[in-house]
Amino acid sequence: MSVWDPRGPIADRIEGLFWPVFWVATVVFVVVQGLILFVVFAFRDRPGRKEPKQVHGNAALEITWTVIPTLILAVLAVPTVQAVFDLTECPDNAMRIDVIGHQWWFEYVYPEQNNIDTANVMVIPVDTEICLHMTSEDVLHNFWVPQLNGKRYLVPGQETILRLAADETGEFWGHCGEFCGLSHSLMRARVIAMEQGDFDAWVAGQQESAPVPEEGTPEWEGLQLYLNKGCTACHSVDFEDNSAGIEDQIRPEGGFRGPNLTHFASRSVFAGAYLPYEGIGYEEALGEWLADPPSVKPGSFMPNLGLTGEEIDNLIAWLESNQ
Ligand code: CUA
Repeated sequence: MSVWDPRGPIADRIEGLFWPVFWVATVVFVVVQGLILFVVFAFRDRPGRKEPKQVHGNAALEITWTVIPTLILAVLAVPTVQAVFDLTECPDNAMRIDVIGHQWWFEYVYPEQNNIDTANVMVIPVDTEICLHMTSEDVLHNFWVPQLNGKRYLVPGQETILRLAADETGEFWGHCGEFCGLSHSLMRARVIAMEQGDFDAWVAGQQESAPVPEEGTPEWEGLQLYLNKGCTACHSVDFEDNSAGIEDQIRPEGGFRGPNLTHFASRSVFAGAYLPYEGIGYEEALGEWLADPPSVKPGSFMPNLGLTGEEIDNLIAWLESNQ
């Protein structure tokens, strides 16, 4: 994550504000510190020296050092205030994505794409204005992908707006920017910017329902565990026409407590975009997570289900079939 490496017009605009402010502040710093050093040395006490001439109450000096900072701040305020107003509102043609903060992961819903409901990885088309409509299911969170924009709060019961745009394809890292409980430091995000064609293909894939595995396969066994171990209390999977023997799960206000698992394996990361981290593979990380989630993410609402090694393998097989 870096604010020094903007990859979109909004982040560019913010970085473009930073440097003038930085250089003006640098000049002020050098001049003021230089004058202090000069005064300290030039007027230091020496044997036989009289008290230097006092300038207290010198109207000309006091007006000067009031007017100069006022002018500097007034000049800096013009582009800053302009940018604040320009960047706060979404353009009318922006594509909408809803962001819902949960302890400790981000949910993304695409209302213009038939309500695709995904987690941790936000996929966007490149060179497109995105308008995030954000809220939180539980506590204050803050969405921050520094290469694409500054940060903004997700507030329970309120909607906040954040613009996002990438001018090149790639993966951009984000993080929750507000302390939100035990695993705040593990509440991460990814934004993946794709060419429009690739994005359309991704949308088509995400709109498909989950496959129902063949009976007797490890994938089937994994699905039975999902259905019978209480996973459906927090997670959801979109099956076509009740085909897996469960009712369609209706999305409650604010979403489910846990991510929608329909296209789980299409995401490069899981567990709040924390896993897999460098050095452990996807399957190994998934095994570690399923074996005991609270040991990986302290405070996790996903309990240790006491799964056996074979059950974990079956669950992994089923999850990996959800492309
Ligand atoms: Cu969510 Cu910190």
